[in-house]
Amino acid sequence: MTQHRILITGGASGIGAGIARHWANMGNDVLITDVDDALGAALAQELGATYQHHDVTSVEQWAQFISQHKPFDVVFLNAGVASGGNIFGATNPEEVFEFDLGNYRRVSSINIDGVVLGVAHLANAMVKNGGGDIVVTASMAGLFPIQADPIYGLTKHAVLGFVKSLAPTLIEHNVCLSAICPFFVDTPLVNAESQALIRETGFDILTVDQVIDAAQTAVAERSAGAQWVIFPGLPVVKAPEPALLP
Ligand SMILES: NC(=O)c1ccc[n+]([C@@H]2O[C@H](COP(=O)([O-])OP(=O)(O)OC[C@H]3O[C@@H](n4cnc5c(N)ncnc54)[C@H](O)[C@@H]3O)[C@@H](O)[C@H]2O)c1
Repeated sequence: MTQHRILITGGASGIGAGIARHWANMGNDVLITDVDDALGAALAQELGATYQHHDVTSVEQWAQFISQHKPFDVVFLNAGVASGGNIFGATNPEEVFEFDLGNYRRVSSINIDGVVLGVAHLANAMVKNGGGDIVVTASMAGLFPIQADPIYGLTKHAVLGFVKSLAPTLIEHNVCLSAICPFFVDTPLVNAESQALIRETGFDILTVDQVIDAAQTAVAERSAGAQWVIFPGLPVVKAPEPALLP
């Protein structure tokens, strides 16, 4: 098997950790980045992978990062957070409509900037290296409204708009940009209380393994701009192809 150079942002926990484990177990050269250094370093040690502290929201850190690394074959831009708190991410349960600007900026910068800066800094080297794959962890909340967390929904819609709009150009240079769109997954991002509420509505929660299958499909299929939908009990399918404005 050819050994690939793989990067996973937000790879210390949850879906990213599962993706890291999967690709490391297949003998690849895996770099996990995250801001949770204790978790990231422990996972890398367990997997025989490498860990590096890297905040995906920082332009400076991205510039430094690309100066340190040879081009990657496969990149998973996975780091992301939910707003938490009330409907606008504020923490006062009495104030349903209280707006927390700082939290809004935090969630937007991790979920949107983390993807845009990542592609902007990594794609050029991948193009010069002959190509590669970039898979963004979006969400079904990028395809459908999510009443409980409108800011999270906004960021995931933004990310999918970016992926769909940029993918046709990148694939002309053999870089395949696509997205995976999981329903709710059993990770620390969705706490036990939320998971129980979701189950009460009659839906199951995905396992990380089900998401890994979709991530592998995204890399294997190389379908530029694809949004791979992962829903409990259904096979992984591509969302309908969008029309492309010139
Ligand atoms: N869990 C779900 O239900 C679900 C569903 C759909 C999509 N997603 C998406 O999956 C991705 C992974 O989430 P998860 O569920 O595994 O959650 P998680 O909390 O287990 O993992 C997210 C990781 O991102 C890291 N991170 C946070 N801020 C960062 C930053 N500034 N720079 C680098 N890393 C940072 C965290 O430290 C953590 O390790 C996210 O993009 C999330 O939006 C999750």
